[in-house]
Amino acid sequence: MNTVFSLQGKRALVTGGTRGIGRAISLQLARAGAIVLANYVRDSESAESLKQEAAAENLSIEIIRADITSEKGLERLMTTVDAAEAPLGIFVHCAATGVHRPVEELTLRQYDWTFALNVRAFFELVHRLLPKFAANSSIVALSSEGAVRAVPHYTLVGASKGALESMVRHLAVELAPRGIRVNALSPGSIITDAWKALPDSERRLAEATSQSPFGRLTSLAEVANAAQFLCSDASTGIVGHTLVVDGGSRIRA
Ligand SMILES: NC(=O)c1ccc[n+]([C@@H]2O[C@H](COP(=O)([O-])OP(=O)(O)OC[C@H]3O[C@@H](n4cnc5c(N)ncnc54)[C@H](OP(=O)(O)O)[C@@H]3O)[C@@H](O)[C@H]2O)c1
Repeated sequence: MNTVFSLQGKRALVTGGTRGIGRAISLQLARAGAIVLANYVRDSESAESLKQEAAAENLSIEIIRADITSEKGLERLMTTVDAAEAPLGIFVHCAATGVHRPVEELTLRQYDWTFALNVRAFFELVHRLLPKFAANSSIVALSSEGAVRAVPHYTLVGASKGALESMVRHLAVELAPRGIRVNALSPGSIITDAWKALPDSERRLAEATSQSPFGRLTSLAEVANAAQFLCSDASTGIVGHTLVVDGGSRIRA
């Protein structure tokens, strides 16, 4: 049997891992054999329901509440990571935030909180987790189309994702000799709670659907499958790459 996609026995940390794309990734990694630590910050109901779903399937998913933009939250998370004796094999950064507004309505406060979670928390966690990683580890950062294209009213999130993708490339080169691979995963539009915050979400989702050669949105399963691939030995040749999983939506001119 081909086992290169297996994550059997690997310890994984997934930030923003209890809702939306992060939740799908937590479940996918656990179903592939990983021992998952899923992080969230506020929505205890979603966290509890993930716990129940994992228990029903006999999956190894532990939940950790921690605001990874705060020193206290980072310390809390690291205490939980340290409590396990085995090294970490997988780190997936899904947690993200941001506002969607025209530039004159954006504030520096919004700039700071967007970059604090989307970029700085990723850097801080990689920094703190470095001594914990096993020799054959994988780091995956969730990016988006706004990293490389101008999406309307997406200035702050887009710029933060651009920074994130650049950081991925730099870390990939520096960490490869330690056996740590770093990549980004850039999904197409997927209906998650994040979309509910957008005033014109229906129009944007209809637009995303029409851009797709398949005439549909990307699915959670498609992104979670790609995350498993990037975390597994099936992708050992992929380093510092941004894997786009959007069903071909960005092909059209
Ligand atoms: N949905 C899309 O169409 C799409 C497309 C391209 C890329 N992406 C990227 O995919 C990733 C996941 O997106 P999503 O739509 O699934 O997001 P989501 O549904 O909004 O979930 C965000 C997650 O991040 C957690 N989080 C927020 N602030 C945090 C903090 N300070 N500390 C720790 N955790 C925090 C949330 O925790 P709580 O549950 O406690 O609030 C939640 O679990 C993001 O990086 C996003 O940019 C999404």
